[in-house]
Amino acid sequence: MYPTLLLLHSWTRWLVLIFGLIAIFRAFSGWQNRRPYVGADNGMAASFVGSMHLQLLLGLILYFVSPVGAKAFETAGSAVMKDATGRFFAMEHLVMMILAVIIAQVGRIVSKKATDPVLKHKKAFIWFSVALVIVLLMIPWGIWNPERPLFRF
Ligand code: HEM
Repeated sequence: MYPTLLLLHSWTRWLVLIFGLIAIFRAFSGWQNRRPYVGADNGMAASFVGSMHLQLLLGLILYFVSPVGAKAFETAGSAVMKDATGRFFAMEHLVMMILAVIIAQVGRIVSKKATDPVLKHKKAFIWFSVALVIVLLMIPWGIWNPERPLFRF
């Protein structure tokens, strides 16, 4: 179960990033060109937020089966928080990614509630961009945080 979840969680990151970039690009161009809010805008926003929820679900399960998630506290106790890699997976990644999912979801709601199409695009652009920046910062690319494979097989 652990290897399968890790594999899925690793690959779903690309869905989140691709859907996120397209949704943000569409929202920005729609806002700047004062374009109507069409089905494709709604579909891409739903795909981005949906992929974030899927990643959250996989991540939550992974957190309880992975040796670097909750189990790290059992094996290493409070020493986990003193080690940068341990702290990243046991705490920072989890907290910041949950925050990113909440921000993306709020963006989806406020954008849907707006009645003016330009405002719909603008709200989606701002909230989705903040969520995606957090996601980009908290993926373990190995730049400031631990390095994990880009493509896991
Ligand atoms: C959009 C949100 C998220 C993205 C894009 C994301 C992405 C990633 C990536 C790329 C990895 C490295 C996978 C690998 O080694 O191949 C990872 C690891 C991990 N993620 Fe996430 N994650 C997200 C949310 C979460 C959440 C919300 C949790 C927990 C509740 C979580 C828990 C974990 C854990 C425990 C690992 C380490 C797994 C291990 O090495 O055993 N992730 N995540």
